[in-house]
Amino acid sequence: MTTPSLSLTLTAEHEMIRQTARDFAQKEIAPIAAEFDESGDFPITTIKKMGALGLMGIEMPEEYGGAGMDTIAYVLALEEICKVDASHGTIMSVNNSLFCNGIYKFGTEAQKQKYLKAVASGEKIGAYSLTEPMSGSDAGTMKSRAVREGDVYVINGRKSWVTSAPVADYIVLFTMTAPEKKHKGITAFLIETDQPGFVRGKKEPKLGIRASATSEIVFENYRCPVENRLGEEGEGFKIAMTVLDAGRIGIASQALGIAEAAYEASVAYAKEREAFGSKLGEFQGTQFKIADMKTRIEAARLLIYNAALAKMNAKASGGRYTLEASMAKLYASETAMFCAHQAVQIHGGMGYSKELPVERFFRDAKITEIYEGTSEIQRMVIARQELGLR
Ligand code: CAA
Repeated sequence: MTTPSLSLTLTAEHEMIRQTARDFAQKEIAPIAAEFDESGDFPITTIKKMGALGLMGIEMPEEYGGAGMDTIAYVLALEEICKVDASHGTIMSVNNSLFCNGIYKFGTEAQKQKYLKAVASGEKIGAYSLTEPMSGSDAGTMKSRAVREGDVYVINGRKSWVTSAPVADYIVLFTMTAPEKKHKGITAFLIETDQPGFVRGKKEPKLGIRASATSEIVFENYRCPVENRLGEEGEGFKIAMTVLDAGRIGIASQALGIAEAAYEASVAYAKEREAFGSKLGEFQGTQFKIADMKTRIEAARLLIYNAALAKMNAKASGGRYTLEASMAKLYASETAMFCAHQAVQIHGGMGYSKELPVERFFRDAKITEIYEGTSEIQRMVIARQELGLR
């Protein structure tokens, strides 16, 4: 059962980070978003500036390079960035949620000093690698291997769909150390991408979030020092799932930002465009679309705040917030797809044109129903929790 979370009042700090992210997105990202979407280039200059603003490690304590804020601050800032460009949001979300969270929770002090500080401050770029060509939703079936030889693990195998891999400095890698133990044989490692045996594979030509680089990575006898193991041997699956709970709140916020962008464009267009002698917004067919979009957006927002508060409560209690995170991710991502779809329809031919950002919202929305656990996986997680099956 979901527990009703704390009530939410935004603090001056929350308003401040939201405004900072909004101003930055409008001033620095909006002018370049279409160009980077088209080229697929990685927007390194703006990402570095986001790091300097404290947006790459929002929830991490200041002593580890972060902004020392809470999960509400994180979701507010991410929503603002994604409202303008989901590609920048993806890079921000992986750095914050998937890289920093795992090291902060499971890392040694030395690992935090070396890897967390550099990534949370935005000086370096982090990534997270769980998926393999034949192991996606069924994450426990990976084929890559790490074999201990004295003070190092020798890692071999191929991982796929790694966000930011083409540019990442450090990667949290999940691989098998004891295949006979299935998911209990998975171990996490901190990978330095400038070391021998690490090879960046083919970059994915993607439908959306095109400026966020994604690629395969290949390990060819990569020698990982024992001190770079994250957690104990066999703890990898639990670490991966724990981190994904945090990640899913981020993707939900990304989806909310895309949905709002699609919605606001639709409202503006409905007020301005005329057909059959009336504004589009005067037709009931358009009004129903606007009403459904707005209602779903506000419902998604509440689920995200609920999940963020559950995460903040869990930090104090040590409990999990798996259910709240999956509900937020499921509902917000389907809201993003719904709103983007309606927005294209309201815009008609202009919704299909690259002259407006609406077609980009449509392409970007789709990934939120797929990565960090598909909608089907979220439904499975929610149902298992409610039925007491796990
Ligand atoms: N937190 C902590 N522990 C968890 C957990 C969670 N959220 N979920 C499961 N576990 C634990 C269970 O308690 C269980 O522990 P024990 O063995 O000690 O009992 C163990 O993990 C196995 O759990 P399940 O039996 O439920 O595992 P399963 O094999 O049935 O899989 C699953 C569960 C939910 C389907 C999971 O595999 C899953 O989430 N799959 C989707 C993976 C995913 O999201 N991939 C995307 C990767 S990231 C990405 O997209 C790329 C990128 O760069 C952004």
